[in-house]
Amino acid sequence: MKRVRKAVFPVAGLGTRVLPATKAIPKEMLTVVDRPVLQHAVDEAREAGIEHFVFVTGRNKQVIEDHFDMSYELEDTLQKRGKLKEYEALMADLPAAGATSFTRQQAPLGLGHAVWCARDIIGDEPFAVILPDMITLPGQRKTRCIAQCLDAYEKHGGNIIAVEEVPPEDTHMYGVVSVKQDFGATFQIGGMVEKPPKGTAPSNLIISGRYVLEPQIFDILEKIEKGAGGEIQLTDGMKKLSESQDFFGVRFDGRTCDTGSKLGFLMANVAFALERPDIAPAFKAEMKKLIGSL
Ligand code: UTP
Repeated sequence: MKRVRKAVFPVAGLGTRVLPATKAIPKEMLTVVDRPVLQHAVDEAREAGIEHFVFVTGRNKQVIEDHFDMSYELEDTLQKRGKLKEYEALMADLPAAGATSFTRQQAPLGLGHAVWCARDIIGDEPFAVILPDMITLPGQRKTRCIAQCLDAYEKHGGNIIAVEEVPPEDTHMYGVVSVKQDFGATFQIGGMVEKPPKGTAPSNLIISGRYVLEPQIFDILEKIEKGAGGEIQLTDGMKKLSESQDFFGVRFDGRTCDTGSKLGFLMANVAFALERPDIAPAFKAEMKKLIGSL
């Protein structure tokens, strides 16, 4: 079994659900507490041992590339002013030279198309896909979602999809999988469908933004027709791949926040602030005052 070294971060979407915030700023650069959403997703990948970070970007996303580069003037000024803690924190976040790749999707034709744009950079290896607008916090297992997916990949091989439960009436908004054989924290996937019409979903287990995929997905994505919403859907590509390869689901032990919606973005800020020892005590006190006044 080949080791999973690379992760693809599709960041070419338009972010229409959080307009006007995303008119001039990519939604992946909005901040949750004091880090861009995308930095939280990259942190999760680094913690899990991912070594190469592949960003599929689009127009007006140049600031993402700058964020993962050095900022000489800023770093020089921080050092000269003795702000060494801030300087060292920036340096610790900086990916190693050559550990990032950027490719362009050119037009937002769908998530499946965005992943396909990374084919030459990934090559013939299994790889992770991380949707950066979904950011995660550890649960009892103390690891975040992509680390749990990589554990499942080591155990089962094949292809891995992280899932979580939603109320049955919400399934029409997501990709949904069904269970073929249950192992508890993981299970073999029987089928999958993108945005099933209300009342037709095979379960309430939704695909939640973390995957480990075999490279054969690229040949399929190259030929696949447009699906739900007129977009090239990753779920449709995975469904086709599941005819010849195994897929396993991971019930993520932890919390996922969808920063791509206004409510999810607000909840992410609250949840992540409550996890920060330097901010949580004062934040809790302010929240109590606010809630008391409701
Ligand atoms: P979303 O559907 O959440 O992103 O796609 P979006 O299209 O930006 O959102 P709205 O609905 O307009 O608000 C999930 C992820 O896939 C990326 C997005 O950037 C996001 O990280 N994506 C989506 C692409 O890179 N390209 C696409 O064509 C579509």
